[in-house]
Amino acid sequence: MKCTKSIIILGIESSCDDTAVSIMINQEVISNIIIHQTIHKQYGGIVPELAAREHDKYLFSTVNKAINIANIHRSQIHAVSVTIGPGLIGSLLVGYSFAKSFSMGLNIPIIGVNHIHAHILSHFINNANLNNSFPKFPFLCLMISGAHTQIIQVNDFFDMNILGTTLDDSIGESLDKIARLLGFSYPGAMWLDKNSKLGNNKKFHFSKPNVKGLNFSFSGLKTQIDRFIKNQLKINTNFIKNNLHNLCASIQKIISEILIEKIILAIQQTNIFRIVLAGGVSANSEITKQFLLLKKHNIEIFIPKKQYTTDNGAMIAIVGLFKLKKKLFNINQPFSKFTPWF
Ligand code: KG4
Ligand code: ZN
Repeated sequence: MKCTKSIIILGIESSCDDTAVSIMINQEVISNIIIHQTIHKQYGGIVPELAAREHDKYLFSTVNKAINIANIHRSQIHAVSVTIGPGLIGSLLVGYSFAKSFSMGLNIPIIGVNHIHAHILSHFINNANLNNSFPKFPFLCLMISGAHTQIIQVNDFFDMNILGTTLDDSIGESLDKIARLLGFSYPGAMWLDKNSKLGNNKKFHFSKPNVKGLNFSFSGLKTQIDRFIKNQLKINTNFIKNNLHNLCASIQKIISEILIEKIILAIQQTNIFRIVLAGGVSANSEITKQFLLLKKHNIEIFIPKKQYTTDNGAMIAIVGLFKLKKKLFNINQPFSKFTPWF
C-alpha cells in the first residue's frame, strides 16, 4: 500500500438501480456522482437484468468522471471499496468485477462493503448529516430504505446487532407500491411526499399493524390502503384526483407514527437516547419532522443530508476507509467468500 498522510478511496455502489461513484480523501467527499437508472419506470419496478446492463453501460465513464472532478490521477488512489451485498446479484457482480480489475491494474486493495453497514456509517463522512457532527457510540440506527426496515444497535464501527426487522415488505417498497396506486411513476414515494405537503393528514385514518416488539410489518397496511382506495373508486371514479393531497398526508402520518412508536420502544429497551436515521426513506419530510420533534425529550437525532440518504458511492468509500485502517480486507478473496457484514 502506498504511504501518504491522506488516504484516497474510490467507492463504487451498484447494488440496485443507482450507479454511484465517489472519491474520498480521508473522511472528506471530493466527488460523488449518482446515475439514477430511468429505464425501469416503464415497468413500474426494477428489472434486475436491465439494472445490471445499465451499470455495465455507465460504470466506466462514471468512474472516470469522478476521478476527473476530484482532480487526481488514478495512481493516487490507495484502495477500491465496492458493495458486495445485499443487492441484485447481476448488479453487484458488474460493480465487483469492475472494482477487481481496477484494483489489480493499480495493485491496490479491493475492499468488500456491506450496503447496510455503509448506510449506517455514512454519518461518519464529514458534514454528511444535518448536525454536521459524527454521532457518538452507542446509537440506535433506524435503517429505512427501498429494501430494508431495521432497528440496529450500533456499539462501534464494527460492532452492531439487529434489534428489529420487517417481517414482510420494506417501508420503501410499500410506499413505492402505494404511490403507484395513486398514479405516480416508480419510484413514487418521493412524489407521495411532495404531494403530502398540501394535504390534511387527519382526513383519512388507517390502523397500525399489530406487531409485537421491535419488528415491523407493512404488507397489511399496504393492503388496507389498497382496499380503501379501490372501494372509494367504486363510489367515485375521481376519488384519488379529488383527495390526492389528503391521501398522501394521511399515509405519511401513519407511516411516521409506526416508526416513532417502534423507536421509542427501542429506547426504552436499550436506554440509548441517540437515534440515527439512514437509507432512502429518511429523506421523507414527515418522518424527518416527527423525529426532530423527539429532541424535546432529550433524544439526540441525526438525519442524513439528502445526497446521503439514497444510495451513493461516498458511503461505500467511508466504510472502505475504516476497513483499510483496520486491515479488514483480503485482496485474494473471491466475491462469493465475502462475509455478510464485516
Ligand atoms: O437507500 P435507497 O436508495 O435504496 C435501498 O437501499 O433500498 O432507498 C430507496 C428508497 C426508495 O423506496 C425510494 O422511493 C425511497 O427510498 N425514497 C423516499 C423518499 N425519497 C426516496 N421515501 C419516502 N420519502 C422520500 N422523500
Ligand atoms: Zn441503499
